[in-house]
This record gives sequence, C-alpha cells and structure tokens, in this order.
Amino acid sequence: MTHWEDFYNTHLPPADFEDNRSLLKEFCERHNKLQNRIVLVTSGGTTVPLEHNTVRFVDNFSAGTRGSASAEYFLDHDYAVIFMHRHKSLEPFTRHFTGQQFFDMLDIADNSQSSTIAIKPDSVDVFAPVLAKYKIARETQMILYVNFTSVVDYMWLLRAACECLAAFEERAVLYLAAAVSDFYIPEDMMHRPSPVALLKSKLKFHFVRSQNFSPTHKMQSGDGAPTISLQLVPKMLAPLASLWVPHAFVVSFKLETDENLLIVKARDSLNKYKHKLVIANVLQTRKHRVVFVTPTDSYELHLSREQALQGLEIEEPIVADVVQKHGDFISSAEQRQ
Ligand code: PMT
Repeated sequence: MTHWEDFYNTHLPPADFEDNRSLLKEFCERHNKLQNRIVLVTSGGTTVPLEHNTVRFVDNFSAGTRGSASAEYFLDHDYAVIFMHRHKSLEPFTRHFTGQQFFDMLDIADNSQSSTIAIKPDSVDVFAPVLAKYKIARETQMILYVNFTSVVDYMWLLRAACECLAAFEERAVLYLAAAVSDFYIPEDMMHRPSPVALLKSKLKFHFVRSQNFSPTHKMQSGDGAPTISLQLVPKMLAPLASLWVPHAFVVSFKLETDENLLIVKARDSLNKYKHKLVIANVLQTRKHRVVFVTPTDSYELHLSREQALQGLEIEEPIVADVVQKHGDFISSAEQRQ
C-alpha cells in the first residue's frame, strides 16, 4: 500500500464529511451537465492537532487572501467555483469588510415604533457592487463553500472533490492555494493527557522526517516537557495529478521564504508531480509579486506601487493568466481528439 493510501486508511473522515460529499456531488453534476468550466480553489492553512480533544495545534500560515480573492475573479470569468477553505479564514465577498469595517458602514435610526438599519450613503458605492456580485453568485449557484480545519479534514475533502471533478476532464482547474501541513501526528501517536497535565505541560517539538507510519516515535511525556514527534504528511499532489484528476489543469502554489530557492523548488515540484503550473511566491512579497513556472518557461507577475494604491489586487492578473492557459490547454486537448 502507498503512503497516501495508508493515510486514508488510518485517519477517519471528519464528522461532516458525507454531507460535504453530497454537496460536492450535486454541485459538480449540475455544472457538468451545463458543460461549465469549474475550479477548485483551496484556501487558508491546515492545522495539526497535538492531542485528541484538541486544545493545542500547530497551524500553517495563510489568511486566505489569495484563495478568497481568486475565487471572486474566477467567478468573473464564468467558472463554477468550489471554495474549499479553512473554517473562519477569509471568504469571497465578505473578505472586503472584515472586523468592525462592516458595522462602521451602518447607520441605525430609532423612532418610538421601530429601528431602521441602513448603509451610510458614503459606503454605498463600496458595498453595493460587492453585494450585487455576491447575490448573483449565490442565486445562480455558481459557488459552493466547503470548509476544513485540520490537515486530515483537508485531505478527505480534497479527494472527495477530485472524485467529483474527474468527470469534467480538461474543463476542471485545481488551484491549490491552501497552505498545507507537511508534518503531522498520526492518530495512534496522539497524546491523551489528563486535563491537569494538559494545562501544566509545555511543548517541545521534535521533527521526524520519516515515511514510516508505525508508531515507533511516541510522544514522550513524564515530569519534564513532552517531546512531540511529527511525521511527514504524504504529498497529495502525487495521486491527485496522476490518478484522481489526470486530465485536469492542476496549478499548485509554492511558498518560500528564500528567494533563491523559489524557481528551483517550483521546478522540482513540476518535475515530480508532472502538473501544469506552479505559482511561486515569497512570504514577504506575495501580495505584489509571484513567479509563474511552467514545464518550459518562467516569468514574473508584478503589481506596481501605483496599481496597489489604486486597489488592484495581484489575484486579478494571476487568475486572468491561469484562465488564458486553461483555455489553451482545452483547445489543444480538443485538437488531439
Ligand atoms: O492566504 P494568504 O495569506 O494570501 O497566503 C497565500 C499563500 C502564501 C498561502 C499561497 O500563495 C501559497 O503559497 N500557498 C501554498 C503554500 C504551501 O503549502 O506550499 P508548500 O510548499 O508547502 O506546498 C506546495 C504544494 O504542495 C501546495 O500546492 C500544496 O497543496 C501541496 N501539498 C502540500 C502539502 C502536502 N502534504 N500535500 C500537498 O499536496
């Protein structure tokens, strides 16, 4: 059995899995009948629980900006969108008004009979276009929201989405912008602390780069700080690109902190998984610069300071470029038939 099959055999699906699977199935069947193009956008970071009945977890950094903004631009290009995101991370449309921003846009008028709530006149220009787009997307059922929290939830949802997307063949895009954990604690190695020990303990991490699933590296506790062994999560890009959706246009993201490694790592990923495109970004500059790496080419997309000040988002040209490439990909597949 392969490493990724082991992963599914040893980790139960999340409680809401069957509900989400039905939603995915219904959404995909409807859009496939309509011959629509479809995109799976993954967004936000996955968690790695450190214990059963999770109080503490390791998190992967991602606010969900890239994924939520991109989902809106895919809708603009008439794609049906499965927005698979980390619970409570940024979502399309509502992302424009986070925190107190939304409340600051409202006015409340009281009279003796009732209260009326209205958008302040100077906020209407900002709010109305976003609300209009949201309403259209919902009413035309062009977007489906499904969410995950842990890396295990993510992996189950990812595979279920792929099972439904396979029927679209070349018409499907997978746009894997979520920040997915590379390490985790297998179910059978998780700590089951007493509530008192749980509150008292401090954690020290010990990363074990091992493909071995047998529980040879137990969490060591005792009187001192426990040592936690994290094991490698299988790279799901491998079965995804070669088995689950072999005809789809698969785009992965590569996050680096070292600029010098950006293209090398992106190329390694393309060579290994044989998918179509890696969009590479550096943590600190990701909002105004990305590098597109294809099997034959690499080039940069960049937002100038002026463009950023005007409110342009880099996801707009990123998605436009992906849509263009996807169109070319479909055309060449049609020519081959
Ligand atoms: O949300 P924001 O704050 O806007 O940030 C956006 C972003 C920086 C998170 C995004 O642009 C980004 O780079 N996402 C990918 C981050 C990441 O997980 O990179 P990676 O190098 O760990 O993984 C590369 C690819 O392998 C990813 O597409 C991932 O889906 C895939 N992967 C990762 C782990 C794993 N176990 N299996 C996988 O298939």
